[in-house]
Amino acid sequence: METKANISPLAKEAPPRKVVLEITDLKKSFGNNNVLNGFNLKLYEGENLVIMGKSGSGKTVMIKCLVGLMQPDSGSIKVMGKDISTLNRADMDELRTEIGFLFQGSALYDSMTVRENLEFPLRRHEHKFGNISDPTPLVIEALESVGLVNAIDLMPSELSGGMQRRVALARTLILKPKIILYDEPTSGLDPITAKEIIELMRRVQQQYHTSSLIITHDVDCARVVSERMILLVDNINYAEGTFEQLKASKDEKIKAFFK
Ligand SMILES: Nc1ncnc2c1ncn2[C@@H]1O[C@H](COP(=O)(O)OP(=O)(O)O)[C@@H](O)[C@H]1O
Ligand SMILES: [Mg+2]
Repeated sequence: METKANISPLAKEAPPRKVVLEITDLKKSFGNNNVLNGFNLKLYEGENLVIMGKSGSGKTVMIKCLVGLMQPDSGSIKVMGKDISTLNRADMDELRTEIGFLFQGSALYDSMTVRENLEFPLRRHEHKFGNISDPTPLVIEALESVGLVNAIDLMPSELSGGMQRRVALARTLILKPKIILYDEPTSGLDPITAKEIIELMRRVQQQYHTSSLIITHDVDCARVVSERMILLVDNINYAEGTFEQLKASKDEKIKAFFK
């Protein structure tokens, strides 16, 4: 694409890796607001890919299209090689168990304890996991990986913002997803708590061997967790590269991110 900044894509030099998620020429408008106007990305197995874009640039819209919460106007989305527009409800539901989604905010169920929050996805996807007579070991395993076993019988309202986000991550991990989508995982957190969440994201990737798509406008988060980054500017995947490559760019629109 002519408008794209000239940054050498790393993918060319790296050995071929399996693509677990692929977005091709995604378009989505609201009236005459062309939020996404030909957005592309590939997420490779086991990598942490960060998408950075200004507030209102279409990051959440992109992720909603990805999980089927929003219909794109055109373009294709493939998850593990399957075009999601061709899947029926049952197949889509099945695919959802492979994709963990950490929403902006934590979105825990307020009226349920931490334990009940974590059991919920297991029951919802009983067809995949079978009727688990005692989900406690799975709940404890997931809570252990976020360091919060002690909170098992607490209500979400009794937890700090950072703890709520960790519980939300545990609720995602309990399904053992292959891909995790993080939408602004550090937004609204103080810098120390944000750092804990960032560390946790790295640990989760090592422990569960997940591929992650991390949407953020937090430069520190991007620096620490990204192996590769895509910048969403002017409604497209404007530039791509490692944090260091992008940071060194002379392009004004790219430089604006690192100021
Ligand atoms: N359901 C909707 N109806 C109309 N406009 C929307 C809707 N959802 C998002 N938008 C618009 O799309 C643009 C991108 O939004 P969003 O993806 O939430 O941005 P961000 O990059 O901050 O996550 C914004 O201009 C927003 O107003
Ligand atoms: Mg958003």
